[in-house]
Amino acid sequence: MEKKLLILSLFFSVLSFSQSKVPVYLDDSQPMEVRIEDALSRMKLEEKVDMVHAQSKFSSRGVPRLGIPENWMTDGPHGIRAEVLWDEWNQAGWTNDSCMAFPALTCLAATWNPEMAALYGRSIGEEARYRNKNVLLGPGINIYRTPLNGRNFEYMGEDPYLASRMVVPYVQGVQKNGVAACVKHYALNNQEVDRHTVNVTVDDRALYEIYLPAFKAAVTEGKAWAIMGAYNRYKGQWACQNEYLLNNILRNEWNFDGVVISDWGGVNNTKEAIYHGLDMEFGTWTDGLAENKSDAYSQYYLAKPFLKLLKSGEVSEEEINKKVRNILRLAFRTTMNRNRPFGSFGTAEHGLAARQIAEEGIVLLKNAAPSNSPKGEKPILPLNMNTAKKILVVGENAIKSMTIGGGSSSLKAKYEISPLEGIKRKAGNVKVEYARGYVGEKNAKQDGLAAADITDNRSPEELLTEACSMAKDADYVIFIGGLNKHDGQDCEGNDRKGLGLPYGQDRVISELAKVTKNLIVIIVSGNAVAMPWVNSVPAIVETWYLGSEAGNALAAVLTGEVNPSGKLPFSFPVKLTDIGAHALGDYPGKDKEETYRESIFVGYRWIEKNKIKPLFPFGHGLSYTQFTYGKAVTSSKSITKNELLTITIPIKNTGKLAGKEVVQLYVGDEKSSLPRPLKELKHFIKIELQPNESKNVTFDISVDDLKFFDDQKHEWIAESGKFKIYIGSSSADIRTVVDFELK
Ligand code: BGC
Repeated sequence: MEKKLLILSLFFSVLSFSQSKVPVYLDDSQPMEVRIEDALSRMKLEEKVDMVHAQSKFSSRGVPRLGIPENWMTDGPHGIRAEVLWDEWNQAGWTNDSCMAFPALTCLAATWNPEMAALYGRSIGEEARYRNKNVLLGPGINIYRTPLNGRNFEYMGEDPYLASRMVVPYVQGVQKNGVAACVKHYALNNQEVDRHTVNVTVDDRALYEIYLPAFKAAVTEGKAWAIMGAYNRYKGQWACQNEYLLNNILRNEWNFDGVVISDWGGVNNTKEAIYHGLDMEFGTWTDGLAENKSDAYSQYYLAKPFLKLLKSGEVSEEEINKKVRNILRLAFRTTMNRNRPFGSFGTAEHGLAARQIAEEGIVLLKNAAPSNSPKGEKPILPLNMNTAKKILVVGENAIKSMTIGGGSSSLKAKYEISPLEGIKRKAGNVKVEYARGYVGEKNAKQDGLAAADITDNRSPEELLTEACSMAKDADYVIFIGGLNKHDGQDCEGNDRKGLGLPYGQDRVISELAKVTKNLIVIIVSGNAVAMPWVNSVPAIVETWYLGSEAGNALAAVLTGEVNPSGKLPFSFPVKLTDIGAHALGDYPGKDKEETYRESIFVGYRWIEKNKIKPLFPFGHGLSYTQFTYGKAVTSSKSITKNELLTITIPIKNTGKLAGKEVVQLYVGDEKSSLPRPLKELKHFIKIELQPNESKNVTFDISVDDLKFFDDQKHEWIAESGKFKIYIGSSSADIRTVVDFELK
């Protein structure tokens, strides 16, 4: 019936075109599907094939004869990548492409604030639009399964609910600009080691409960216009040409009507790419990801080989039509949408947005009074700039550029305020000195871009001696270290070798702790790190990679101008084997096969099931003020499947400073037919309270919050019985619990 209507309306549209002379596909008063069919009907087979594969490193052809524009992609996800040469990763040497570097997505997730995700999406979308890109290759939302994954910094943590709530506003914000968000990497790309070959075996419960929800939310709620297939395999098929992931789940279960774009070099044969739901092939025969060939783009799996199959009749034209329809839909939503805004680039507003997100994402992990101070002494942070005379900053990450490097998310930033620079700017009359402390690596170089030289050839002993002697008379010593964007750390293409800090930093921290009680450790990373010195330092801050405004945001938090409110989006384990993938020895797989035997027990779900004490739990993050939680009250003792349960909790700021708190709600199923985690995050809200102010926070629990995925029935079910609701300030700091029953 629908088809008949479409044909009829197409007929009338064509008729009206012959009178009005405006081609139907260019007439935006016509329904989009009618315009798509009209454009398709005018295209030659060769023109269709031209559209489904790349024509350069980051672009694909439009239909020049019909005025249908090219598609231009850009990384993603933390800023707009600089222009590269047509066929190479190297910079094209433009002078107008220095972008605003936004904080890494781990930082965004750590804000636990969907409004920050909306701001991020809108701002980066404006930058993409200004640069005439119609597809932003991001955000990344693969689940944090192991702290070794070199790309965790580009993702949103270990919890599917948190990632879902954060990805939706990001996608919507980007797309308001007429730029498609391309969520990546769908799916099960949870490590970089063997990323092109590993075949993941995962049970359906873990797939549906842990690895898919953020993608599903991006597609069904965020209405993402594009999605990128991952490099790895699942059920023996590459994710970019995967019948289960693309046809069955993405298209059939979620009704995705956007484009499926391959990861760069992620296509591996023609037939599967034709039949299993991929629309556009990128990056295959160009240097860097596979081999180089002359006439590269027409050698793509979806280029000449596809055309040959179509011409011989072995593959029906409907197969290419399906793909071209999706690509035309992308064009009508982006490049051919006459009403889209014009965007803006590298503006002061974007700098402010980057700074605000950075400030909200920084996590205060620990804040105690210096050891041996009298009882009741205040915690060491915020810094008291009225009494301090000298601050010593130690460590390579205080001066290192973190926007260049890390792989495809590397940026040519308009500016980048280093932590040292940020602290100096806020210091006023306080003297700020710097000691290197240790030498890791030179500033990362990527794609022909490099930051200032920070080479230091002194020996570790010399550096340590210098730092310790300068620390003695400092009022505060701020150690700034962590990881960086070099290969083997937080960087695409490889994983870390272990949980520990590199370059002997543990020793430097421990030695500094011996000469000063006033040591503050700042970790710059996108991953959890081990902290053998945790008990010998009074304060620890996790800052993530903060982009252009890094130093300003950090200094604002250290000095108390901003009260920290970030919460961890993943657990910090004491040791690797506190994480399922490592405890069971599955990571990184054997002979390119990896089974996720921990199943749904990822992150805190594993930690709680096995009664492990983490270094810092999921959801943890301190403030300079205190919040007290009153007793949670429910609207009823029980609900039926169609009713909502309302929970109200009074929260009060009992400290002396205004601050923000993330109130977290976890649900636990007391008894179920299948194993379930002790509890799972199902709601959260970030609220702001003035000193002494109280607010009642309410959450509505529906039956959906109680469900698990029954892999036998292939559906989400809620079993009647008793449930517990845990409300608290982190997964391990539960302040009030209520019981209720589902009838
Ligand atoms: C990465 C993608 C990226 C693409 C283009 C690939 O290597 O996996 O995330 O968008 O390159 O740079």
